[in-house]
Order: sequence, then structure tokens, then C-alpha cells
Amino acid sequence: MSSIVCHPLIDTQNGIATDARIKKQRPPPLVVSRPRDLIQESCERLVLSDQQLRRIMTLMEKSMEQGLSASKKNVAVKMLPTYVDAVPNGTEKGDFLALDLGGTNFRVLHIKLEGKETKMTGKIFRVPESIMRGTGEALFDHIADCMAKFMEENNLKDAPKLPLGFTFSFPCEQDGLTKGKLVTWTKGFKASGVEGADVVTMLRDACHRRKDIDIDVVALLNDTVGTLMACAFQENTCQIGVIVGTGTNACYMERLDRIPKLAGYVDEHGVTPEEMIINTEWGAFGDDGTMDFLRTKWDDAVDRESINPGQHLYEKMISGMYMGECARVVLEDLAKQGLLFGGHSDAISIPHCFPTKFVSEIDSDLLEDDDRTFQKTYQILEDIGVEMITANDCANVAYVCSLISTRAAHLTAAGIAMLLNRINKKQVTVGVDGSVYRFHPTYPTLLDAKIAELIVGDIEVRYKLMLSEDGSGRGAALVAAVATRLKEEKLAALSSSSSSSN
Ligand code: GLC
Repeated sequence: MSSIVCHPLIDTQNGIATDARIKKQRPPPLVVSRPRDLIQESCERLVLSDQQLRRIMTLMEKSMEQGLSASKKNVAVKMLPTYVDAVPNGTEKGDFLALDLGGTNFRVLHIKLEGKETKMTGKIFRVPESIMRGTGEALFDHIADCMAKFMEENNLKDAPKLPLGFTFSFPCEQDGLTKGKLVTWTKGFKASGVEGADVVTMLRDACHRRKDIDIDVVALLNDTVGTLMACAFQENTCQIGVIVGTGTNACYMERLDRIPKLAGYVDEHGVTPEEMIINTEWGAFGDDGTMDFLRTKWDDAVDRESINPGQHLYEKMISGMYMGECARVVLEDLAKQGLLFGGHSDAISIPHCFPTKFVSEIDSDLLEDDDRTFQKTYQILEDIGVEMITANDCANVAYVCSLISTRAAHLTAAGIAMLLNRINKKQVTVGVDGSVYRFHPTYPTLLDAKIAELIVGDIEVRYKLMLSEDGSGRGAALVAAVATRLKEEKLAALSSSSSSSN
């Protein structure tokens, strides 16, 4: 067995050891490697300084203020009121149904809340691309069909109707807890006739069309809200919910006096809540050009080729749907410049041939592989058909991947740090979920470290990131449960005040 040993092309500045050694199981191709500084120079714009991140924080807060204002229309960051104005108090109990639509899978769940215990039975259904991009009616028929199957299999069809929480992880303009119009599709969905329509009505109509199921939707919610609620159930300091998965988004508890567009709002019982969870839809930050100062030609390329060009630009620099593609276009460019793969760019030029899970795997090569053999990196490049792979190429590909994921973590950190500063409470827990946060080897650590650098004040008491387990399912049941509890409490208060006045 022959081996290649070479010196690294990367440095410690970005968390990568300098005296890396690369051993490969095949002889080195006769390709002259280009010096590291050319690659570093080309990728310079992918490294964000704290100064740039602080600028992002200021600009993002300004965009959020615009979203909250009563007068500004067509804002980038929508800041959607969720009508969820209380977090769980731990006494929630009962049986609930939860629907979860937000990506390529759709889930139906039966959830039993009993004190701090949750019992869940669920089923996952695929949403084929033809349905994601077909008609809205077909999409909701598919949802109703999956639901009917689940209810049949779990003997729920003829049982009394259960309160249902519908996690619909797309921007929805709500005007109550059970009503919401889809603002725009994101994450590769494009079903016609849904944008501008009330998704709860579409769901009910689909159930009526098939006649064998009836539902009682008590809450429509975003996955970030479910994440916040699921985390708040365990940790009552939770005020922020963040998703970094296929897409990215955050919600947080905002004071009503800082939401001008809700001025004068009273709920159906005539009460003005002190706070409400706002779904920021921060994925669209930068859609008005605010982030142009740090966007790169590669970000433009990813956006141009996406299904929704010009939309959700912050998301496209961060989330799982785009991170791999972003790395791929950088690699393609470097190969075309002759800096990688001996100048051969055909294999790496195929759109979407480099999914985000490759970025994760290559980043774990950097983390776990003390000998710097870059076995996984080599394997991945070989699998996608790259022909001329040198050991230096592997090190440089890993370098690019680490730059892309570090940038994603730092951009998210800027968003979270800004929200923490804005909330300005002594102790805040941030509930986080999503495949990038869960499965990327270094993302959570990079995120945490950068938030600590960016927030003001004493970090020990200021914040804690907490993995929020299954916000989209459990969180939906919790929102439904809180809504049911508050309704009962308010009705009880009303009836006791009317009986005492009689
Ligand atoms: C997209 C959606 C948003 C969702 C996020 C995470 O950004 O627009 O509603 O919360 O993805 O799933």
C-alpha cells in the first residue's frame, strides 16, 4: 500500500491544525498543487470579521424594527405576530393531534401530555416533489390523505375529535391563532394557489372533500414557535426559538408595546397581552440589499439558480438546503481557476451534487482525523466523480467547507446575539433545533462561541443554548394545550365574574 504525505495548505486561523499530514491509499496524481495563499486569497470574503458581524446585528435589528412598524410595507423581515402570548406552565395535559409540514416529510402525531411526560405516536410521510410543486389543492389532499391513514391505523377516526396543532413552517400572516395566510413559499415548495390563501381553511376544505375525517384546528404555528414552546416547557427562561435545518428562522417573545403594528390589539376575551411571540422570518434578511456588503459572487450564483431568486438571502447563506451548494460553487470556481483538481471542473460543476451532509462529513474529517488522512473527503470527491484528486486538494476542499460552515454559524450567531441584546433579560434560554444544529460537527460550538463574543454584558448569566427536542411535534401539542388551557381559564374567570355580579 502506498501513501501520500504532504504538508497542509491551511492554517490555524480558522481552527484547522497547521502540521497536518495527509496519507492516501493511492499514489499522488501528477498535478502541481497551487500555493495555499491563492486559495486563501480567493476565499477571503468568506471570513467575516466581528466588525462585519456587529454591523449585521445593527442592520438586522433595523430591519426587524421596520417589520414591526405599522407604516412600513414590503419590508424584508416580516416579523409576523403569532398570537401565542403565553408559554407552558407545566400543567398542560391531554391528548392532541399534531401535523408538521415544513420540508420533504410530513408528519402526523398523536401526543399525550401528562405533566412533564410526553407520549407520542407518529408517522412520517414523504411529500414528493411533484406534490410540493403541483397545485395547492393536491398538496392539502395529500396531507388529508396521510392524516386519514394515520387516524385509521390508530383508531382515532371514530373517536371524539382531538384538538389539533398545525405546524406549518413557512411565513404566514396570521390574524388569530387558527388563521394564517401564506406570505410566500420557501425551501423549494411552490404549490400553486396557496400564497395569499388561509392554510387552515385549505386543510379543512381538504378534509371536507374526503368526508371521512373531521378536525378541530386550535393552533397554527411556525416550527420556531414549537421549538420555543417545547424548550419553555422544560426551562421557563426560554424566550427565543431558532431553527437551523433545511431553512433558518427565529422567533422570540416581544413586548406588545414594541409592536406598533399591533397597537390597540385585544384578544377575543378583550384582554391585551403583555407580550407575544413574533415569528421574525429572518431568512429573508437582506432581500432589500442590506447584506450586499458581504455577499459574494458565489452567494449570487446559489441564489440565481434557486427556485426563489432574490428571496430569503440570509437563509441561503446559512441553512442546510443551501450550505452544500454554496460550498460546491466555490469549489467549482476554484477548479476553474486551476486551483483545485488540476483544473478539472466538470464533476464539481453539476448543480446540487454536493449536499450539506458532505460539508458535515468533511468538517468531521477535520475534527476527528488526527492524522489528517482526509479519507472521507477523498471518498466523497471520488464518489461525485472528481478525477484528479491530490492530497492537497482534499485539505483545500476541507478548508473551503470549514469556511462555509463557520460563516453560517457566525451569521446565525449575529442574529441570536442581536435578539439577546434586544430582550435584555438577566437570563435567557435559546431553544434550538434543526438538522444543521443537530448533525453538523462544529456548528453548535462555533455558534455558541461567537454569540458569547457578540453579546453585551456578562455571558455567564445571559444566555444558554438548549437543544429543543421535536418542537414541531411536541411544540404543536403544547401550543394547542396552552390555547385550550387559557381559553378555559378565561371562560371560568368570565363566568365567575358574571355570577358574582348577579
Ligand atoms: C423557512 C421558513 C420559516 C421556517 C424556516 C425553518 O425559513 O420560511 O417559516 O421557520 O424555514 O424551517
